[in-house]
Amino acid sequence: MAATAMGIEEALLLHLQSHAAIVDSGDWAARSSFDHGAVMDVIKSLQGSGFVEAQSIKRNSWILTAEGESYAVRGSPEFQVFQAVPPEGISRVELEKKLEASVFKIGTGKAMKNKWLESLKGGTLLRKVQGVTDEVKLQLLEIRDGQHVEVPDNAITDLKNRKLIESRTWVGYSLKKGPKYAPKRVKPATDLTREILQSGEWKEREFKPYNYKALGQPTEGGHLHPLLKVRTQFRSIFLEMGFEEMPTNNFVESSFWNFDALFQPQMHPARDSHDTFFLKAPARTHKLPEDYLERVRRTHEEGGYGSIGYGYDWKRDEAEKNLLRTHTTAVSSRMLYKLAQDKFVPKRYFSIDRVFRNEAVDRTHLAEFHQIEGLVCDRGLTLGDLIGVLNDFFSRLGIKKLRFKPAYNPYTEPSMEIFSYHETLKKWVEVGNSGMFRPEMLQPMGLPADVSVIAWGLSLERPTMILYGIDNIRDLFGHKVDLKLIKSNPICRLGIH
Ligand code: PHE
Repeated sequence: MAATAMGIEEALLLHLQSHAAIVDSGDWAARSSFDHGAVMDVIKSLQGSGFVEAQSIKRNSWILTAEGESYAVRGSPEFQVFQAVPPEGISRVELEKKLEASVFKIGTGKAMKNKWLESLKGGTLLRKVQGVTDEVKLQLLEIRDGQHVEVPDNAITDLKNRKLIESRTWVGYSLKKGPKYAPKRVKPATDLTREILQSGEWKEREFKPYNYKALGQPTEGGHLHPLLKVRTQFRSIFLEMGFEEMPTNNFVESSFWNFDALFQPQMHPARDSHDTFFLKAPARTHKLPEDYLERVRRTHEEGGYGSIGYGYDWKRDEAEKNLLRTHTTAVSSRMLYKLAQDKFVPKRYFSIDRVFRNEAVDRTHLAEFHQIEGLVCDRGLTLGDLIGVLNDFFSRLGIKKLRFKPAYNPYTEPSMEIFSYHETLKKWVEVGNSGMFRPEMLQPMGLPADVSVIAWGLSLERPTMILYGIDNIRDLFGHKVDLKLIKSNPICRLGIH
């Protein structure tokens, strides 16, 4: 039966009571029939509490390989060959039949070299001596029993060359009594219990000191994805600026709200299935606000509100097609239409949610991503207001230097791409898109003619990748994401540098 750690500890402390030291833990373990690994563990623990002082010792030793192990049991191949040769001799062919292939192959040569056998013309093998001793087997047995000191050096070299033994570094301890040595160790109590108090044991008993440096258990449970952390920060910036969040819980949208309501003509290339995911089932939306739809049709075909329109044949069929929304501006169009149905009040709205585009996937593009969108809706707003709001918004992200470049969106005029100066890249990078919604979009909804809407949008992925130093979007989002990133990403504080 294997000795318990407690049994080993008692024996070891008792031994040290009457001996100055244990010079070699390996010898001591062997003599006491303890497993050396278990003895090592006990020594480490006793050393930790000052009961012993231990110093590690290293030794090279030899162990048998699998082949060596088999010869230690069955005898060396040369011996096995010798045994298989009868006094009258045997032909090589017959001998080979009696033995394992490897034994025959290795053993015959060795036996001849040892001058145990001779080979006659015609291939007969004869014994040259009466009997032999299997030295190799004896040496292997000695090494196996840990008595390799008895084996001469040249024999060790031979065994090693034959790959019957291999060296191993043996590690053990040399030890003596430590400063806190006692013949028996009472484990220090970890808690002051009722029993210890009642029995009076507390007077004598040693208590384990508290480890104030212990790190504690790592917390298990949910972890926020970096995109969610950055989203929370953007959301609080919008809330601090007095914006209300729009409901974005519809990934499926009709072409009408995603494109037509935004004065995006039906032959616009973005409305192609190469750019947009259209739904097969349900393929269409049948409920659309009829009056409004009619005004949208008229504006696309003939214009109005000071516009000449696009002059094409607008088809309801095209507007009814369902798709995965390609931008969160679809949500904004629904909300502005809703707002126009009551007496007008100024509003600030924002949304942060997922959108879908049928694009080739690469290190910076996925077929789905998140958009951040803000809009302000009030009487008499100008481009100056838009620039002012953008400066306010981006400065809260820690981005102070902005530049604007004229751009084109079907639903905004004027439109501006937003650039910011990237301090580490030392260049201007695009951070968003913006504009003032066109009257052809707002007026059919029923908003008063003097109401303007300034709006802007950006992706959530771009700032998140910059903040977390991720250069391939597939490392941030999708099935290839390393869960370690999700479990251990730092907190996000926008605007604090
Ligand atoms: N919808 C635009 C996009 O997908 C962003 C935008 C929003 C532009 C609002 C202008 C105004 O890129």
